[in-house]
This record gives sequence, structure tokens and C-alpha cells, in this order.
Amino acid sequence: MKPKNDPIDIYLKDLSEQFEIGPKDHKDFITAFQQEMARGLKKEQSSLKMISSFVKRPTGREKGRYLALDLGGTNFRVMAVELSGSRSFKVLSTSKYVIPKELMTGDGKLLFDFIASQLGSFLDEKRLSRAQAYGLGFTFSFPVAQTGVNSGRLIHWTKGFKAKGVEGNDVVAMLKDALQDQKIDCISVDALANDTVGTLMTKSYELTECYMGVILGTGTNACYPEEKSREGVIINTEWGNFNKFRSTIFDERLDQASHNKGEQLFEKAVSGMYLGEIFRLILADMAEKGLVQEAVNGGAYSMSGEDLSQIASREGLPLFKKIAGIVSSRSAKLAASAVASVLLWEDKNKKKERIVAIDGSLYEKYPGYRETMCSFLKDINVRFELAKDGSGIGAAIIAAVARGANDKGAKI
Ligand code: BGC
Repeated sequence: MKPKNDPIDIYLKDLSEQFEIGPKDHKDFITAFQQEMARGLKKEQSSLKMISSFVKRPTGREKGRYLALDLGGTNFRVMAVELSGSRSFKVLSTSKYVIPKELMTGDGKLLFDFIASQLGSFLDEKRLSRAQAYGLGFTFSFPVAQTGVNSGRLIHWTKGFKAKGVEGNDVVAMLKDALQDQKIDCISVDALANDTVGTLMTKSYELTECYMGVILGTGTNACYPEEKSREGVIINTEWGNFNKFRSTIFDERLDQASHNKGEQLFEKAVSGMYLGEIFRLILADMAEKGLVQEAVNGGAYSMSGEDLSQIASREGLPLFKKIAGIVSSRSAKLAASAVASVLLWEDKNKKKERIVAIDGSLYEKYPGYRETMCSFLKDINVRFELAKDGSGIGAAIIAAVARGANDKGAKI
């Protein structure tokens, strides 16, 4: 039998308290988040960038075949998508490419050259003739100051990317230059979108009533239509950078060791890229205090969000499970608080049913994650709709909208 004052139990109790998001935290979070939304919309100093996207919602009648390029994590994807013209689509083919680590952190031009060359290989592999013209939607899942439907400057990298010479530049222009250098002139980059916007567009193509787009994966973010500004323009909140919430010593340690210190604090507490690292830092702390024998083998980021998800779903490992549960349940509650903040921004009385298009491994795969989120949102009329791979498909839809492709012919 364990002694009553078992030091591990005492440590875990304290840890739970540090990571707990109670009703007061939830309420304070919403107040602070909405203040930051208001400031961001007025272009005042705010941790929420509240970026206008130049995207119109689809009618559902857009038709034709488009290419989509989806860049936002350690992989990027190329897809050929067929829009039926009647609220359904088919992914005709898809290829996933791993981005070599040195390209994520090296010269930005090389990163875009690599992407362009893989696009070329995609055309060849899928036997898509270069004699035809292809419209392409580019999902670029980083904070971008959009300047038009197919132009925008990268504000700063997130999620471990550091490639030089991209921040401050137009990423569509960089992609076009790279395509030109490789003599790929059959592709026209017609749309640039954040993954949240792509996700919202994908569900909006299928369902008329979709309200918000949310990503809970490697990174996290959301977009919604801002009724108070120009006719429902879709705002990319860039909520990953929100910083007015109660953090812990482990969040501070993680942030201090990161190369984007002080930035993306909400993302660092919530998203899949960081949960494993928070877990590792907790175990390292326990090892230092002599409560466990060994910390996690390997250095920073040697534990992934997926590893945590495995621990949560496997039998045994009660201590690891408990810590994983503390970290992931805070993530789900913080994510729910952010969703609530956006939904209550426009509808304070919580009356309207809101459909939220959502994608990302945490929401989709982490055991118990969506249940925790939903239980935290039980007094709001919200329905989540998983938009699997919506980010890329959405870019194809935006490209179709940009081309005004209602009932027009195929592009592939
Ligand atoms: C980026 C967002 C993106 C989110 C989810 C964040 O790191 O800043 O633009 O939507 O990740 O991929």
C-alpha cells in the first residue's frame, strides 16, 4: 500500500491544480480573448492578429478540377480535386512529401524550389499533361498578411519553421518564381489561404450553414466571419498567438527554450507539436526532484503529441497516463474556451446553432479530447463537423471561387 503522503501523489495533485482550467479561468479567458479580438480588429496592439482574408464563400455550384498545395507542417501535400458543382467533391489524387529538416530552417528559396519541383513530379506521376492549364489553390498555414485573394506576406514563421528570406515576402510570388525557374508554366496560383479558412470553405461547400473553421493539430488557429466589419469578411484570428491566459512554469520553460520566444503562447500550451514537450519537461522536473528514476530519453521534442496519444490509449503506465491526461485535458479545455470566445462574440445569448468545421490530429485522434472539449462547451449550441483534409480541398474551392467557376468546365 502507498503511504498517505506519497510524494508522487502530492506532486501530481499540485500539477493538476497548476493545469486546471476551472469555471473562473474559463470566464476570464473569454473576457480577455474578446478584448484582444476587439483590439486586433481595430488594429490596436493585440496578441490576436485578426487578419482579413480575401475569400468569398462558395455557392456550392463551383465546378471543375483544381490542384491544391497544402503546406503547414513537416509534410506538404499536393492534391487534384474535382468539384461536382452540387456540393460534393472528390479527391482524384493526392501525394504527401516530407520536407527535409534543413529546408525548414535553411534558405527559403530552396524550400520553394523543392515545393515547385515536387509539384512538377506530381504532374508527371499523375500523368497530368503540361500542355494544359491548371488552377491551383495554395494553403499556407502560417500568419500571412493577405493583400489579395492570391497574394500575402508571411508575418513570421511558426511550428519550427525558420527558412530565411521568406518573412516579409509574398509567398505566392516566391512560389510563382520557383515554378517559373523550373519551367512549370501550366500552373496558375489563383488563391492563397490559411488552413482554417480552407477548412471552413470545405464544409461551406458541402453545407450552407457552416460558421467557423478550427485547426487543432501540429498548430492551432481559427477563423470566423466578422459581422461587425465589412459584410462578413472572414477573419483569420491567429489565435495561436493569444497570450492572456494562466500559464505554468512548464509553459515558461518551453517558451524560453524555443526560437520564437514570447510568441505563439496559446499554441505552445495547446497544439500537438508541443504537448509531448510539456510532458517531457514535467518528467524532467520529477526526475530532478528525485521522484522518478529517469527522465524521457532524448532531448527536447523527443516526445511527440502522437507518443502522448499512444500513452493515453494503451494499458498500463499509470503515472505517464496521469501526466498525459493533465496536459491534454488542459489543452482541450483551453481550445474549448477559445471556441466559446469566438462563438459568444457575435451571439452573446448562445441561441443560434453554430456549425464549426474542424480538422487536426488532436481533435480527430487524441483519446477523449473531443469529449473534454464538448463537455466544456455544453451550454453553447455548437456542432463540430470534422473536415478531414479540409485545408487543402478548401484551397481548391477558393481557387474555383476566385475563377468564378460556377458551372464551368474542367481545368484538368
Ligand atoms: C499558424 C496558423 C495556422 C495554425 C494551424 C499556426 O502555427 O500560425 O496560421 O492556421 O498553425 O496550422
